[in-house]
Amino acid sequence: MDLWELTDLSTPWCVHVAATLRIADLIAAGSMQVDQLAAASGADRDSLHRVLRHLVSKGLFEETSPGRFALNEVSRGLLDEPVRLGLDLNGIGGRMAHSWGTLLSAVRTGRPAYHEVFGRGFWEDLDAHPDVAASFDALMGPGHGVPDSHVLIDPADWESVKTVVDVGGGTGTLLAEVLRARPEVHGTLVDLPRTVARSGEVFQAAGVADRVTTVAQSFFDPLPAAGDLYMLKNVLADWPDQEAKAILRRCAEAARPSGRVAVLGGVAPGEDASPELLMMVLVGGKARTLDQFRELAREAGLGVSAVGRQPSGRVIVECRPLLMS
Ligand SMILES: C[S@@+](CC[C@H](N)C(=O)[O-])C[C@H]1O[C@@H](n2cnc3c(N)ncnc32)[C@H](O)[C@@H]1O
Repeated sequence: MDLWELTDLSTPWCVHVAATLRIADLIAAGSMQVDQLAAASGADRDSLHRVLRHLVSKGLFEETSPGRFALNEVSRGLLDEPVRLGLDLNGIGGRMAHSWGTLLSAVRTGRPAYHEVFGRGFWEDLDAHPDVAASFDALMGPGHGVPDSHVLIDPADWESVKTVVDVGGGTGTLLAEVLRARPEVHGTLVDLPRTVARSGEVFQAAGVADRVTTVAQSFFDPLPAAGDLYMLKNVLADWPDQEAKAILRRCAEAARPSGRVAVLGGVAPGEDASPELLMMVLVGGKARTLDQFRELAREAGLGVSAVGRQPSGRVIVECRPLLMS
């Protein structure tokens, strides 16, 4: 591969444009001629044709005769809702795509520069744009598929767990799966008000709504106390060390004296954590090695008690509150 191939941005942008214009859905519904595709998607015919021809040259879509397009295995992927959410330039897909333009500033300063493009930081931007926030929640929750409910390393430990608090639990997809798998357990979902407001359907669909309490609050404020298990899935990697420590401290306070905290995602057991560049540009977050996490947790009042993997492969780090001296 040469440098020009490596740095060519045209293909990723063309894919985003095709996804945003729902070209795959239109073809699947029978609009195959570029004139029809342009009319149905509100695009300029010749410009769209050029984009599609480029994508055909890269193996996405087929041009079966001049100006007539068909799906192939790769472009059929664009029919998947999570893929569409991740690529649609009008929603969270656009936030992720455009934030790469801030990478140089992020690298120079060590802080996210998302505000340079969107006028405010990532979370404030979601506050200001409910549609984008809704697409983010959809991508995080249903978009990531059915979560693995095996959140404790040793299944026998469920004996002592009757209440689970999902901290930053999004729209409740993980909590719903845990409660479905454990009929004796009650759960509390903690997330921002706009996200918690979208959780009702998820709990209803899972048939667990009668065992759930929702709490719309920041996880930087004191958390519901005395839970047996606090879950943090894909939360800590969204934050720099100071904020990640503050969240862990809230979990430690709430879990004291005998609860536990299960961290799912964002901690790598080996020497190297993933670079997580998207986290760098969006929110200034990062993945951590186990040693880095252990130190952060200790400063927050938690000790790592076990490390394992879910059947789906994700690393679980279990922590216990440290005794106060
Ligand atoms: C990457 S998502 C992970 C969601 C969920 N745990 C999952 O794995 O699908 C991060 C979550 O943190 C929530 N969040 C961000 N800032 C928050 C805050 N200050 N207080 C509570 N939740 C917050 C977001 O709303 C979002 O649901």
